[in-house]
Amino acid sequence: MEKTAGLSMGAARHARRRGLPRRLPVLATLSGPLLLAGCAGDAPSALNPGGAGATRVAGLWWLLFWISVAVFAEVMALLAWALVFRRGNARVRHGQPLRFVTIAGAGLPFVILVAVYGVGLRDLAALGDGPGPDAPTVEVTGHKWWWEVRYPGASGATANEIHIPVGERVKVRLRTDDVLHSFWVPQLMPKTDLIAGETRETWLRAERPGSYRGQCAEYCGTQHAHMAFLVVAQPRADYDTWLAHLNAPARAPRTDAERRGQQAFVQGTCAACHAVRGTTAQGRVGPDLSNVGSRWSIGAGAVPNDAGHLGGWIANPQTVKPGNAMPPQPVDAAQLPDLIAYLRSLE
Ligand code: CUA
Repeated sequence: MEKTAGLSMGAARHARRRGLPRRLPVLATLSGPLLLAGCAGDAPSALNPGGAGATRVAGLWWLLFWISVAVFAEVMALLAWALVFRRGNARVRHGQPLRFVTIAGAGLPFVILVAVYGVGLRDLAALGDGPGPDAPTVEVTGHKWWWEVRYPGASGATANEIHIPVGERVKVRLRTDDVLHSFWVPQLMPKTDLIAGETRETWLRAERPGSYRGQCAEYCGTQHAHMAFLVVAQPRADYDTWLAHLNAPARAPRTDAERRGQQAFVQGTCAACHAVRGTTAQGRVGPDLSNVGSRWSIGAGAVPNDAGHLGGWIANPQTVKPGNAMPPQPVDAAQLPDLIAYLRSLE
């Protein structure tokens, strides 16, 4: 919104300088939403809903939008009528203006606002109506600046990636390990704040398989912007397979490089903070790395998950995501390729 306003002000100044018709900035402002709508596609926008919760929010948004359009058009029409047809006509019948102000200025807004309030309450109640006690559950903990993801009953954990069965309501239990964060998947559900000392609950339901981007929506420090996650909605059978995988030991090394990498990992400083299932590395400070090779990014959306970025991250995570909890690692150059090979193999 700020961007649109900034653009239109800039456009206005520019138009004046070049002597362009004054109407141009108005046209630019009006075409802004159309241009934005053209970018929709698979954008992580609340107006591009992929689930029951966000569909309600989008419905409410469009209702408010069209009411605003109607009210704006009506006010403009009355203004035009007053300017064009009433100019110079000073004869106003006694009582007419008062009646008009009462109906159009107070009565109509009252009816509209009460109706919108009613619809809002209805949607609020529907969003608060979570899944039943037997619904699949995921426990999400916010850390500065990543998301820990656990499933009750599963021994393993993952990070910045939440798998859910498609077409089912999934309960999400939210906790924070430090400061306020906010859990937001624009295409699936409105925001839920994570408050220290409390367990909050929300739910997710995706109508079609695919990935939905989520984001921390409460400023929580330097790397707030790099606190993203993905919700992966899968058919039930794929979800069950994925969950079973989360209980099994991590993939064992197959090549010599991977074996050397594993040894460096469990005997070095990595294991103090990170866990890999089925090994002696059981650290709980940083993300569980048992399936790090298959994740969509490194550092909760900071950089793509490929060998180059992984190497850069291990050598000095502070250059990639300044302020994060991982210190630069004293890894010697000969060990780095082995560590990368091992971590990339963990899927
Ligand atoms: Cu966590 Cu912003």
